[in-house]
Amino acid sequence: MNRKDDHVRLALQQPFQTNDFDHVRLKHDSLSTTSLTTIQLSTQFLNQTIPYPFYINAMTGGSDNTKLINERLAQLAAHFTIPMATGSMSAALKDPTLASSFTIARETYPQGFLLANLGGGQPVEKAWKAVDLIKANALQIHLNVIQELVMPEGDKDFTSWALHLENIVKAMKVPVLVKEVGFGMSKKTLLKLKRVGVRYVDVAGQGGTNFAVIENDRRENKLPLLNTMGLSTVESLLEAKKVDGLTIYASGGVRQGLDIVKALVLGAKAVGLSGYFLKLVTQHSHEEAIQQVEQLILEIRMAMVVVGAPTIASLSSVDYILMSHLARYQEHV
Ligand code: FNR
Repeated sequence: MNRKDDHVRLALQQPFQTNDFDHVRLKHDSLSTTSLTTIQLSTQFLNQTIPYPFYINAMTGGSDNTKLINERLAQLAAHFTIPMATGSMSAALKDPTLASSFTIARETYPQGFLLANLGGGQPVEKAWKAVDLIKANALQIHLNVIQELVMPEGDKDFTSWALHLENIVKAMKVPVLVKEVGFGMSKKTLLKLKRVGVRYVDVAGQGGTNFAVIENDRRENKLPLLNTMGLSTVESLLEAKKVDGLTIYASGGVRQGLDIVKALVLGAKAVGLSGYFLKLVTQHSHEEAIQQVEQLILEIRMAMVVVGAPTIASLSSVDYILMSHLARYQEHV
């Protein structure tokens, strides 16, 4: 079976579970001066104003099945005029017969904010081609060392990744957003990204889709030691608080509106969801998916009323309590 189809099939088998968002408690405001209907949900994403503080994060493309998924994701993104990233496009740059599984997103969402996606070890020329193929508004570069190590056919040499990234950031005319794939980022990584000129980062932490588990499912001789490696999205956001000069986005393990609000309170400017949207477009009709996203938006509004924040920007001054291991973790960042 095609690797991209494997990833979708195995990601769909991963259940939503408890994660570090459940150990963050927002302090409510009993004298809230907000109203459910006038809450402002628009925010800035890579220098664009977007109507809601979330986007469809990178997933797929590269086969017939994933073309259909990208079409459905783009239909949903178009309905809400939210940004959408495709999955890694390197396969389509090698084999042009796969291109339509990515360009379907642009055909379906002609005016949309689309992000092309490539892995860390790619040269500038590939980055230009990927952006050009879907007329992308931005480029995502994913850093996925843990996944590559567990992936049977994955890269094992990362010595040139920082240099390639520096060259891409210098050469691209569209914004470059560097992300993980569900293993989070440390302060050390964030400082290194800043040094090579990166300005926009999605910490993409643990708590949702776990690619070490997915790649282990695809291996004969298992490497379970990497299944629990990485930082959660909440831990990564705490790390990011210690680094200034980067615009931080968050993703990884976002299951509901309250998780989005918690990530925004912890410093993210917008929030990406992958597994959530994959389940929506593969297990529900378009109409049902729209209803579920409307429910997600209502949850965000409700949480904002409860904490007394009328705008996304005002969430950064909401107080919170970190529970259990996170309380101790914060002291060590
Ligand atoms: C992904 N993800 C991903 N990320 C990336 O940058 N390039 C890619 O090609 C893919 N491929 C991919 C396939 C599938 C099926 C899934 C579910 C995810 C990772 C994704 O963008 C995100 O970082 C993680 O999935 C964690 O977020 P969730 O799923 O917990 O919301």
